[in-house]
This record gives sequence, structure tokens and C-alpha cells, in this order.
Amino acid sequence: MSFPKNFLWGTATSAGQIEGGAFQDGRTPSIWDTLATQPGRIHNNDTPTVACDSYNKFDRDLKNLLDLGVNAYRFSISWSRVMPEGVGKLNPKGIDYYKRVIEKLNENNIKPNVTLYHWDLPQVLEDRGGWKNRDSIEWFGEYADKMFRTFGDVVPMWATINEPIATYIGYSKGTFAPGHTNEAWGNQARHNILVAHGKGVEAFRALNPKNSEIGIVIDIWKRHALTDSPEDIAYMIDEDERNWKFYTDPILAGRYSDYILEHLEKEGTLMEMKPHDFELMSKPLDFFGLNVYNRVPVTHNEKVKMDFTQGGNFLNNQKEYYPQAVYDAIHLLHDLYDIKCPIYITENGTYYKGDEPVSEDGMIHDNDRIRYVAGFLEWLEKAIDEGFDVRGYYLWSLMDNFEWTAAYNYKFGIMSTDIATGETKWKKSAYFYRDFIKAAKERER
Ligand code: NOJ
Repeated sequence: MSFPKNFLWGTATSAGQIEGGAFQDGRTPSIWDTLATQPGRIHNNDTPTVACDSYNKFDRDLKNLLDLGVNAYRFSISWSRVMPEGVGKLNPKGIDYYKRVIEKLNENNIKPNVTLYHWDLPQVLEDRGGWKNRDSIEWFGEYADKMFRTFGDVVPMWATINEPIATYIGYSKGTFAPGHTNEAWGNQARHNILVAHGKGVEAFRALNPKNSEIGIVIDIWKRHALTDSPEDIAYMIDEDERNWKFYTDPILAGRYSDYILEHLEKEGTLMEMKPHDFELMSKPLDFFGLNVYNRVPVTHNEKVKMDFTQGGNFLNNQKEYYPQAVYDAIHLLHDLYDIKCPIYITENGTYYKGDEPVSEDGMIHDNDRIRYVAGFLEWLEKAIDEGFDVRGYYLWSLMDNFEWTAAYNYKFGIMSTDIATGETKWKKSAYFYRDFIKAAKERER
């Protein structure tokens, strides 16, 4: 058992969660900067204004990446930093920042994997209706095209959109930016962003940058019915359809399921769709980015629910420990879609809620996180051994950062971040990951 040659070992972050520099050098607010101005929206009313300050401290991040020994780094571009008006002019200072980041990574043999959209729509575009406006397809297409023209040849891996479900949540549930609570808007927004993804792929193919690939990042949270009662099975099917198949179906099969079309129609929230949309959404990809964190047990049976949460195999954040989730998700991609392109695990990780205890030796002994990551890697290796084409793993996250509405209360990092000073400190899991990568590289097939 071993990982394939040239396997990518990385960590992942995103602009809105680590960069800070929210109003520096001509950047305009994103929808998350705006949401953070509304009291009660975000834990402790914290903001992403400074976050890990990576806009000013990339050298710190680079050193950490080098010391970890990763050969890949996944990050995203802040749209409103490079195009402050959302469309039109580029901002030279914003471009310079990413130019330097990409250059430094390439110089050091750390492969940049760049996401164009990780949830941070420019507020100026939200003011024009945001993702629920079909024009967003063109806005994103223009942004993507400009980024490929600027960085196409120096970025070997591009992802168009990260977790499109976040856009649905932002327009329908209100808990993510831009904070709307309209189901029909949510459905329109998620349809539009999937079509926008296709526009991005189209722009990429038209330019055909050298030695570069394109994909999308989708999260699969498989539902598991805890009993075989018809109600629980129906519940599981419904949740699977709405929470991840809604995205994988159009991307990998060029259609929405009959289930979704019928239910949304009945609910009066069916989105406006055009025939050409389906061709765009299902453009062939060079890779599929899979984010996988856990499975989601579902049941209507209160007694089973109680037993489950009291008895199972749980992490200290009260989440179930189910590392097989990664293996199951890879199988699903094959079973449902006969996926042909390589898969990368673009995110996997776990969080600690609140302040992680520091031991007398000054270290955070995050043994739960180590157990979690080790377990997922074991199941990933099993899938690879069975012949599945998985080419990389990115741990979420390099450091504690702005975890959206949970702000700085949920700590996902293998390094801690002092938000006041920008100082990062290795947790035990960072040493674990460094050693794991080293050993894996030594026994590459
Ligand atoms: C999904 C998102 O892509 C990322 O932004 C988030 O921080 C992690 N998962 C953890 O919730």
C-alpha cells in the first residue's frame, strides 16, 4: 500500500478567510465584508477585515508551507481585489499580489491550485442582483477570462467554483452571505453559478493555457438513513438530492434529476433554465475537486437519534468520526457517473470549537485532528489501492482562519493563528502531517 508517484500533498485556504487587507490597495468589499457589518450575523460580530493578514504576510505562509514539505497549495483569488468593480478594469496592485504568490510557489516547487470563486462575490455585483441575476454568468465569464489571460500559463491547476451549495445557502437560508431567505432565489442562484462555471471552462478552453488544467470543487456529504423505515429512506433520498446531487448531476451528467425538477416545480421554486445551460454546465473537466468531511446520519426516529449521538464514535466537536466518508464519496462518483477524470481531495479536515487547550509544553496537542486526518488518509489509500484515480490531498486548513459565520470560533488549522499579531504556531497535527508526507514520499510507488 502506498500513494502514487507525484501525488500532490497540500493544504487549502481561501482569500476571504485568510487574506484580510479588506480595504487595502483598491480592493472593494465582498458580500462577506458587508454581512460582517450587520450585527448578530457573525459569531462575536467578528469580521474578515484582517483575518490571518496573508495579504501582508505571505512570506510567513510560504515558510510554513516549505517547512511542512507540501508540494501543492490551494488558495483562491479575491474577485474584488483584482476587479474592484466586479467587471471591467483590473487592479494592478491586486494582480501584483497574486503574481508574487504564484511566482514564489512555483519557484519553490509548490504547485498552485487556484480557485476563482470561493464565496466572496464583489458587493458591487450583489448590488446588481448578485448570483440570482442571470447576468452573473457573464460577469463570472469575464472575470475568469481575465484571470486566465493574466495567470493562465503560470497556474497549473484552476478550479472555477468552490462548493456551489454555499451560494444556495446565501440566497435561501440567510446564514451565509449575502444573507437572503428566499428559496426561489436560492435555486436560481445555484443554477446560475453552475452555468457560470461552464462559462469559465469555455473561456479556459478558448485560451488553452499551456500546461494548465481546469476543474470544479464540490462537497459530498452522503446521507445515511439510520433505520430502514420508508420515512427515513425517503428523508435520505431527499437530502442527497438537494445537498450534493443538485451539483454533481448537472456537472457530471448534464441534467437535473427528475426528483429535483418535480419537487421544485411543485414547491413553486423552479429556476429559469435555458437549453444551452446544460451543455455549459457539463463541459468536460480535467479534474474533479472533491471536498469531503463526513457523512450525515438521518432519521425521524427520536430514540435512534438520541442513541446515535450518545453512543457513537465522536470527535470532541460532537461530530461523528467516519473516515470511510472519503472512500464512499469516491465510489459514488464512479457508481453514479462513471467519472473519467482524475479526482483530487481538495478539502478535508476538522475543527475545534472555542479555544484549543495549550499544554504545559506550549503545544496544542490536537490528537482528535490527527486521528481524523490519519483515518481519512487510510481510507483514501484504500480507494487508490482499488484502482481509483486520485491524485492529491489538500488538508483544510493551513492555519486557523475566518470560518465564515463561525468566524474565529471554529478552528480548522493545523497551525493556530493569533489574529491580533498574525503569528502562527504549529499544532501537533502540523508535525504529524509533515512527517506523514515525508514518509509517503519515501515509499511512493
Ligand atoms: C468548506 C469551505 O470550502 C471552506 O471555506 C470551509 O472553511 C471549510 N469547508 C470548513 O467548513
